[in-house]
Amino acid sequence: MTYKNIDVYTLIKPEVLKLRNIGIETANLDCRLLLSKSLRRSKALFNHQNIFISQSEIVKFQSLIQQRLNGKPVSRIINRRNFWKKEFELNNETLDPRPDSETLIETIIEQYKDKLQFLKILDLGSGSGCLGLSLLDEYPQSEASFFDISPKSLEMVKKNALNLGLSKRSKYINLSWEVDGWDEKLLTIEKNIKYDVIISNPPYIPSDVIKTLKKEVRKNDPFIALNGGKDGLDAYKFILPKLLKIIKSSGKIFLEIGKGQENCVIKIATMHGLSLKEYKKDLSGVTRVLIFIIK
Ligand SMILES: C[S@@+](CC[C@H](N)C(=O)[O-])C[C@H]1O[C@@H](n2cnc3c(N)ncnc32)[C@H](O)[C@@H]1O
Repeated sequence: MTYKNIDVYTLIKPEVLKLRNIGIETANLDCRLLLSKSLRRSKALFNHQNIFISQSEIVKFQSLIQQRLNGKPVSRIINRRNFWKKEFELNNETLDPRPDSETLIETIIEQYKDKLQFLKILDLGSGSGCLGLSLLDEYPQSEASFFDISPKSLEMVKKNALNLGLSKRSKYINLSWEVDGWDEKLLTIEKNIKYDVIISNPPYIPSDVIKTLKKEVRKNDPFIALNGGKDGLDAYKFILPKLLKIIKSSGKIFLEIGKGQENCVIKIATMHGLSLKEYKKDLSGVTRVLIFIIK
């Protein structure tokens, strides 16, 4: 096979222009990430780095650029996304982790300052595992259970845990919070040991709103990871009534919510024996995380 010796910028320049022309502001970075993927490298290349590239790798790069031109997000093309301090692999049943969800991690770190303490953590609706695994990475003595309705997403959590060296402290639970007695089933699996920390970023987008979302989100994120039912609150209505049973008396619950959902979610929680401890806004000033404790 013959290889061409070329600098990255010369190779990507025409593709950067194509992406810029359709309004993609991150065109240069996107091209470098897609080129890395074509060369089977894990990190983005530098613009002025020299590379050796074969004709088939160039063809591969151009096909990835075409996917980007068709509106597929880079994270979905390369099946990877950076979250908090690590890189997570994704598949078609995992949500593409959002920077707003890092507010959950930030909030927990503020609440639990001693990184060496033991926390038993539950990540409800774990997706790629980005939340629970980031916490395991921050709290090296702690353990986490990852709970999701999608077996394929749990496979991804397993892979991410392995990649990050966190497998020994991770447990994978394929259950649905819509199933009667899910709390009892969970406690049986956990040998009746309750949690110190429950974290959840459940689906919270009202069904009607999903069709108005950007095509990139609508087409690439799994519906089940987005859909919160008619008013966006279905998951909270299933989850909150059961938390009292599975949390330790000193435990804390950290919930991500959508814009403007705080009053409704606080009301449901209060009806089920929980009280609001604090809330936290994301970088755009939207109330994003609610912390609940036992009343
Ligand atoms: C918004 S995503 C969050 C994923 C991940 N925690 C994150 O923050 O990127 C919601 C997750 O809830 C899961 N889910 C949806 N309905 C569920 C149910 N009834 N029981 C358990 N998990 C469910 C989805 O599969 C999805 O992984």
